[in-house]
Amino acid sequence: MQHLLNITDLSTQDIDRLIATAEDIMQNPEKYRDACRYKKLATLFFEPSTRTRLSFESAMMELGGNVLGFSEANSSSTAKGESVGDTVRTVSCYADIIAMRHPKEGAPYAAIQTAQVPVINAGDGGHNHPTQTLTDLLTIHRERGSLENFTIGLCGDLKFGRTVHSLVAALSRYQGVKMVFISPPELRIPDYIITNVLEPAGISYVQTESLEEAMPQLDILYVTRVQRERFFNEADYIRLKDTYIVDPDKLIHAKSSLVIMHPLPRVNEITPEVDQDPRARYFQQVAYGKYIRMALILDMLGIHL
Ligand code: NCD
Repeated sequence: MQHLLNITDLSTQDIDRLIATAEDIMQNPEKYRDACRYKKLATLFFEPSTRTRLSFESAMMELGGNVLGFSEANSSSTAKGESVGDTVRTVSCYADIIAMRHPKEGAPYAAIQTAQVPVINAGDGGHNHPTQTLTDLLTIHRERGSLENFTIGLCGDLKFGRTVHSLVAALSRYQGVKMVFISPPELRIPDYIITNVLEPAGISYVQTESLEEAMPQLDILYVTRVQRERFFNEADYIRLKDTYIVDPDKLIHAKSSLVIMHPLPRVNEITPEVDQDPRARYFQQVAYGKYIRMALILDMLGIHL
């Protein structure tokens, strides 16, 4: 049985296959309508979510399957003190596949010790978020036609932002990807990512505080929210939360072909006026999330049409 805890659990060939399936689903949705008939997906969300949980559920419904689960820890037996291991062992009796989000880094590793069905990490604390990365990769592939040869600026909370950590790990395996890390000093990309991911892959990267300076060279701007819930004190969050606000003025010196992405939810970091700019692709990115999750569910259940 295969689980998906980290984006590097998938090879680049696996990713190519998932993108191809997602694109086939977009073109031929009726072919997949009953693909997961009688199958059940459980969504175990110990932490808030809109896109990830609902896109998983909608993905399973569009494949003709069913969904069950909970959307907050307090409505499950976790509130009575049950361990993640026991919860997942129990849910394995009811579902064919599990998507799980948890505030603690590494919780999905505990889950797979007792799981009897495949487990997908739908975000663990400030660590990883592989299915958002699949969504991001499909978006880049659709927008640029390839996952190679571009400069991406990752902006905002690079320390706690799990979507950034997974995306960096994924992109480190493609040719000609340059990374510009744009953050205040307190929210820089963690050292372990530099030493374990970027340096071994020989990735060319720079770190800067200035979005303005980085902007003209970027092919992709990946904006992230400052992760309030992972801060140790509120004063630091308040000081840092509005460091970067992307508005139409900031985009004046950007490439006309720029692709603006954001995993969402946004708070203040992109103003609503930017939504009208054809370079803003974050709501399209949301839409792609459902198709890549459909492809992933099929793959993990071993269903090949
Ligand atoms: C992200 C997450 O949960 O890490 N949201 C998402 O899944 N699209 C980003 C965030 O919460 O800032």
